[in-house]
Amino acid sequence: MKRKLLFLISAVLLLAGCSGGKKSLVIGVSQCSDDIWRSKLNAELALAARVDGVTLRLSSADDDSQKQMAQIRRFVADGVDLLIVSPNQSHTITPAVEEAFDAGIPVILFDRKIDSDKYTAFIGADNVEIGRIMGHYMADFLDKKGRVVEIPGLEGSSPADDRHKGFAEALQQYPGISLVTAPYGGWLREGGYNAMEEVLAHGVRPDAVFGQNDRMALGAREALGAPDDVAFFGVDALPDAGLQEVIDGVLTASYLYPTRGDLVMELAMNILSGVPYQRENLLESALVDSRSARIFQLQEAEVATQRANVENINARLDTFLMQYNTQRLIMWLVIGFSVLLIAIAAQTYWSYIKMRELQHQLQESTAAKLKFFTQVSHDLRTPLTLVAGPLQHVMEGPLSSEQQKTLSLARRNVTVLQELVNNILDFRKIESGNMPLSVSRFDLPAAIREWMGGFRSTSRTLTYEGLEALTVEADMRLVERMLFNLLGNAIKHTRPDGHISVSVRQEGPSAILTIVDDGEGIPKEKLPFIFDEFYKGSESGSGTGIGLALVKAVAELHHGSVHVDSTLGAGSTFTLRLPLVQKGAKVAQGHDASTFTERYEETYAREDTAREEAASRVSESDRPTILVVDDNADLRSFIGTLLEGEYRILSACDGREGLEKATRELPDLVVSDVMMPVMDGLEFCQALKGQPATSHIPVILLTAKSLEDQRAEGYDSGADAYISKPFSEKVLLSRIGNLLKSRILLKEHYLETGESAAQPKENDFLGRFRAQVQAHLSDENLSVEQLGSELGLSRVQLYRKVKALTGYSPVELVRITRLKAAEQLLKTTDKTVAEVAYAVGFGTPSYFSKCYKELFGRLPGEGR
Ligand code: FRU
Repeated sequence: MKRKLLFLISAVLLLAGCSGGKKSLVIGVSQCSDDIWRSKLNAELALAARVDGVTLRLSSADDDSQKQMAQIRRFVADGVDLLIVSPNQSHTITPAVEEAFDAGIPVILFDRKIDSDKYTAFIGADNVEIGRIMGHYMADFLDKKGRVVEIPGLEGSSPADDRHKGFAEALQQYPGISLVTAPYGGWLREGGYNAMEEVLAHGVRPDAVFGQNDRMALGAREALGAPDDVAFFGVDALPDAGLQEVIDGVLTASYLYPTRGDLVMELAMNILSGVPYQRENLLESALVDSRSARIFQLQEAEVATQRANVENINARLDTFLMQYNTQRLIMWLVIGFSVLLIAIAAQTYWSYIKMRELQHQLQESTAAKLKFFTQVSHDLRTPLTLVAGPLQHVMEGPLSSEQQKTLSLARRNVTVLQELVNNILDFRKIESGNMPLSVSRFDLPAAIREWMGGFRSTSRTLTYEGLEALTVEADMRLVERMLFNLLGNAIKHTRPDGHISVSVRQEGPSAILTIVDDGEGIPKEKLPFIFDEFYKGSESGSGTGIGLALVKAVAELHHGSVHVDSTLGAGSTFTLRLPLVQKGAKVAQGHDASTFTERYEETYAREDTAREEAASRVSESDRPTILVVDDNADLRSFIGTLLEGEYRILSACDGREGLEKATRELPDLVVSDVMMPVMDGLEFCQALKGQPATSHIPVILLTAKSLEDQRAEGYDSGADAYISKPFSEKVLLSRIGNLLKSRILLKEHYLETGESAAQPKENDFLGRFRAQVQAHLSDENLSVEQLGSELGLSRVQLYRKVKALTGYSPVELVRITRLKAAEQLLKTTDKTVAEVAYAVGFGTPSYFSKCYKELFGRLPGEGR
């Protein structure tokens, strides 16, 4: 990512840098001298170059040919695109120019020439012509007679030779004029001065002097002491150096030697851009004397003003260009950084999506794992019940101590497995939001000490420190589960001779439960994950990784929290914070068995059954009949074994068979599994409750599923009780006993009210029964068959149902109904006892009186 970013930034900068377009051309200018004439030329070149967008590299050889050669060679080495050379001396500079030309660099010779053809183009004035015009002008001025001294420029430089040639040729036409001498002045003022001194030293005093440039002419004039009788002529006529002297009369005439940097650059650009050009280019010019000097000066001033304007415009253009370039750079940078930001945003978004996907996958796999474990746990419940139940059964019999020990070991391990299964099912319930808290108020330290008793068999020292008593509101079963998991975890990670201490203290509105061990501790990097589901501290370690996740889930369900501190090698401290009060929860007081699950019910059920056992030892024939419906043959037979002592057992392997048997046999109670093939328990229960013959039979649903919604479904189907697997023998017996007992109680209730204490449907049945009897009240021959067919039941069915609902046989019930009607008549009418007896269907008044006394404990006459 970092590298990508760097790459993008450099790309943006590069883009911004390159956005100026193609690489600009470089033109090297090699000037032989540094003087005002060349300065003017350089300024003109620079101006033109700027307009053309060309880079100029200016250099001066300071009248030194060696230096100039070195400069030219440097330009070649640097690979300039074109060379403009004004050679100091033709001969000396020739090799360097040839080298450049041979290297493929176009060379423009300006103003001065070389001794070779190896150049691209020449541009400059015609110096022979200049010399010639000056010669004729001077001859005219001297009236064609007199002595003349010429001071040529630098020996070997082409203008010097050319001007001399033209000048000498012109003077030859005037026999009265003699060119006395021509000493070189090297183009410099001192050169002119020295040359003239030398001339004077030879005793020559001229009438006129021709300096090949104005500087040398003025130097010679100085050497002569600026005499009025000698005329001085020069070349260049620069506005500030030459032209003014002509106007002032210091110089008689000069020759405007053109610089024209603009034309030189035009030629260079043509060459560079492949536009056809002339190889030899002569610049036009003119002689300047006192008559024309002023005009030239005005013209030059005008040009100078224009140039200044152009330069001013150029300068402003430069500023604008600079601003434009800066703005463009900024724009590119903004674009670049925007792109960068978008890229970063895209990358971030992409990473986010990826992370979400991963999280989703993780959640899915966790959910799948949990689902799988839940399924396995459900599947384990039944076999566990089948192990735990028989085990308990066997352990209650006479055993040797060796056998007791072995079976205890087995039972302990079954408990461990059951706890594991419960952990998973509880966790799943919390996760799916289906775990309502059964809050009760209890003494936390007392409960903890009791639960710790269950861990007595460990060799670790287990101590309780802290508050003696502290009342909390919580789901006791779930708090026990947390302690079980935390203690189990501590024991697992503590050496056999280690120490674990549990304490409870109060901190404001919370109870703080800590479990401190001096065991192996947890590596720092694993600490943040240990409460995650399926997280296992070590690969090799046992466990499902659900225990601590459950602790956290339960703590949070109570609006509390759990936290761990650990030092590797020194031990861990788990701190559980539970609010003392569960706001808004319905709180059951104390150990209310109805608010607890089977586990707690078991304790209390034990007392109930003991009481019942003593109370009713029913005879073999009078045993109530129980129909056990379960697709698992083992479970069927196990339940059968449990109940066989007290009940007559019928069994069926699915709902359909169950329904058939129940309809036929009319058992006193049904125990049925929920998940079964063909017809499941819910459907079976519904069918049973839906038909008159069996609707009164109490149904206990037995299922591995303990989810609340399924429990509700069970009750919707009309089930009277619900026991989740694994169930304990005691709980099952207690539920069966209670349900049957409540049927016996009905007998008394019926006598009081004439109604069943059961469901409205059954009252409805009894109501219809009573109505039938009422309709045939005086008919002493009303038979049970007749009643049954009117109520849609067979004789046997009617018998069983009435017996089950009221404890009476149909005949008894008919009699009671008649007697109750009689009681009513005795109270509200003046009829005699005999009349009443006949009116309610008794054949003889004496039998009526006997029955009446049996039921009400007094004779009919006594009631009045
Ligand atoms: C300037 C200069 C001029 C002269 C020309 C000849 O360097 O000396 O004064 O006219 O060169 O090349």
